[in-house]
Amino acid sequence: MSERVRVICPLNESDERTLADDVLDGLTRPFKELAPKHFYDETGGELFDQICDLPGYYPTRAERSIFEADGAEIVAASGMAELVELGSGTAEKTMILIDQAAAAGTLQRYVPFDVTEAMVRRCSEICGERFTDAEIIGVVGDFERHLEYIPPPIEGAPRVVALLGGTIGNFVPGSRRQLLRAIAALLRPGIDHLLLGTDLVKDPAVIEAAYNDSAGVTAAFNRNVLSVINCSLDADFDVDAFEHVAFYDRGQEWIEMRLRASRAMHVKIAAIPLAIDFASGEELRTEVSAKFTPQRLADDLGAAGLKLEKTWTDSEGRFALSLSSPVV
Ligand code: SAH
Ligand code: TRP
Repeated sequence: MSERVRVICPLNESDERTLADDVLDGLTRPFKELAPKHFYDETGGELFDQICDLPGYYPTRAERSIFEADGAEIVAASGMAELVELGSGTAEKTMILIDQAAAAGTLQRYVPFDVTEAMVRRCSEICGERFTDAEIIGVVGDFERHLEYIPPPIEGAPRVVALLGGTIGNFVPGSRRQLLRAIAALLRPGIDHLLLGTDLVKDPAVIEAAYNDSAGVTAAFNRNVLSVINCSLDADFDVDAFEHVAFYDRGQEWIEMRLRASRAMHVKIAAIPLAIDFASGEELRTEVSAKFTPQRLADDLGAAGLKLEKTWTDSEGRFALSLSSPVV
């Protein structure tokens, strides 16, 4: 157990019921919807990587540019000895930040945490080779349910818990604050910080272009959630019969992703079991991606008992990284 690089995989059989429970709950609502964490199987992860390279998808590049310009300052302001990253994915841009902590000589441990086991294993291995003086502890789990599997902090060593890429925006206001409260509970007052990535409110045309590419990558990513259900729950969704829809809701200030049934359909999900009907043109909500104003950010953090300490934005003011800490 004293290996420098290791992966904890605490999921058991009852966790496999989660997808079934989420699907049952979401698809039997008056307005059908699905929980976003199920997008990211191996194919979903690869499609998301392709989204990040799309010319119109600015959030990833904007966040990376902040790490490049201000990573050293983020490390200095937090004293980062341990970085726990929720929804770490490939951690490609996070490594720019970890490089800075390694260069500053503060880095002791990196904990990538993701729901997709293959991603956690690959990321832990790559980080183990890149950060040879640090301990790497990968955790496979759902950050809405399994935060207790994160190892206890190192005595006296500043911990930073990060949620990057605008993932917090994939939660509607109520569950967003609930998640922030659960994350805040991992932080020791006076020593630890939350590092949060948030996409900012801006020209709706720029936002909509980020979620509607002409190459159809975003559409394929959106539809992939139906393939995940087909494979894991023995369902018979005709994936190609659903169209990708993404629009900016100016009232809510979020992007809403939907799948529209191009004809009437009867779908069977054998593993639940559940049979559902779609009317022609009926839409299923797959994800929201909320955009933030400084006020919304401060309010959400405040509701979770966190105080905003410092915010960094990219040169075009598209995306923000903020450090906050528990109020004593
Ligand atoms: N942080 C990366 C990836 C963002 S995509 C970036 O900024 O580019 C969102 C990531 O969060 C995916 O890797 C997905 O598998 C993970 N994820 C989504 N919901 C999750 C949950 N409930 N628990 C754990 N990981 C989750
Ligand atoms: N977390 C990403 C975001 O909100 C996820 C994402 C990007 C996404 N493009 C998408 C989700 C298309 C569904 C469909 O920006």
